[in-house]
Amino acid sequence: PIHPVILCGGSGTRLWPVSRKDKPKPFLPLIGEQTLFEEAIGRVAGDDRFAAPIVVAGEQHIDLIEAQIATPSTAGRGHRLIVEPCARNTAPAIALAAAILPADDIMLVCPSDHHISDEAAFRAAALAAADLAADDWLVSFGIAPTHPETGYGYLHRGDPLPGGYRIARFVEKPDIERARSYLDSGEYSWNGGIFAFRAGFLLEELRAYRPEMADLVAQAVSQGSDEGSRFYPSAAPFGAIEGDSIDYAVMENTARAAMVPADMGWSDIGNWAALHDAMPDEQDEGNITRGTVDLDNCTKVMALTDGPRISAVGLDDVCIVVSGDEVLVTTREGAQRVGKLPGAMDQ
Ligand code: GDD
Ligand code: MG
Repeated sequence: PIHPVILCGGSGTRLWPVSRKDKPKPFLPLIGEQTLFEEAIGRVAGDDRFAAPIVVAGEQHIDLIEAQIATPSTAGRGHRLIVEPCARNTAPAIALAAAILPADDIMLVCPSDHHISDEAAFRAAALAAADLAADDWLVSFGIAPTHPETGYGYLHRGDPLPGGYRIARFVEKPDIERARSYLDSGEYSWNGGIFAFRAGFLLEELRAYRPEMADLVAQAVSQGSDEGSRFYPSAAPFGAIEGDSIDYAVMENTARAAMVPADMGWSDIGNWAALHDAMPDEQDEGNITRGTVDLDNCTKVMALTDGPRISAVGLDDVCIVVSGDEVLVTTREGAQRVGKLPGAMDQ
């Protein structure tokens, strides 16, 4: 079976004030009834081809994870939890999971902060990716790009492979000029941040490009301790790791990168404008509201409140978010910068 590895790390400050340090983006029901974490778990549930999930997360989120993993859709399947002593970005987090799995098993690395509207397409892509991973390809999910986003990785399509393509070049977070030229060329996909690896091969490749990180992860695992379904890697070697993402540490360097195209209604809900776009129930003027909201003569306005009434007149392309004691008002373009506001930084 394929082992789903669910990563829970980032703080998601760009969705402040709803996303807060103590309850970040993965654990919030942003789109439907379920939280993004529950959606991530649910996508790999109820299908014998997927093993019980392995969740990699920090101590501070364990209670949220245990509460949300126990909801009816996922209950009774069992899961393993790898508790990171500190955050060292995705490469060490993924390597921890690889190191506790049998070398020939396939892992499917899934971020916990994405929305995917077409689950059947996701599962089809996952199976194609797992087949390529078994042949020692490091497989990424390729998403058709819609704009020159600089926060994503870009995959240059190479020769065809069964179910996908070789990646001729993997470029993580290009500047805006390069992002534009990649988009215009039609030869690039976005990296969806979902990966399939053979566990042993991922560790070999990590050793090739980041030998020190590979050593420290191996030490953290061999000196770690099992407590029931939880695994605690040893804090001293893990803390000594110089953090890096899997994209920079391995995917940009490997000669064995491949991708499966995945047309699955993907969004990483990177900011309020992206959430607006991912919401299913747009009203006539493209407005989206939650809570008590009166809009007069507004178009493409998103207005969400968990308390006071929002009243707005004559606005276009604006997000208004009221959460607890905080109010955010931003244009769609400004949404990208919300994480840098004092309110979001100083929580
Ligand atoms: N357990 C754990 N520990 N999880 C982590 C850590 C960590 O130290 N750091 C990040 N994560 C989790 C995040 O919660 C998220 O679910 C996932 O790993 C990806 O991390 P991000 O920090 O959100 O990465 P990014 O958005 O900058 O870039 C990645 O995702 C893009 C698509 O959303 C890259 O893979 C890009 O290439 C990709 O396009
Ligand atoms: Mg992200």
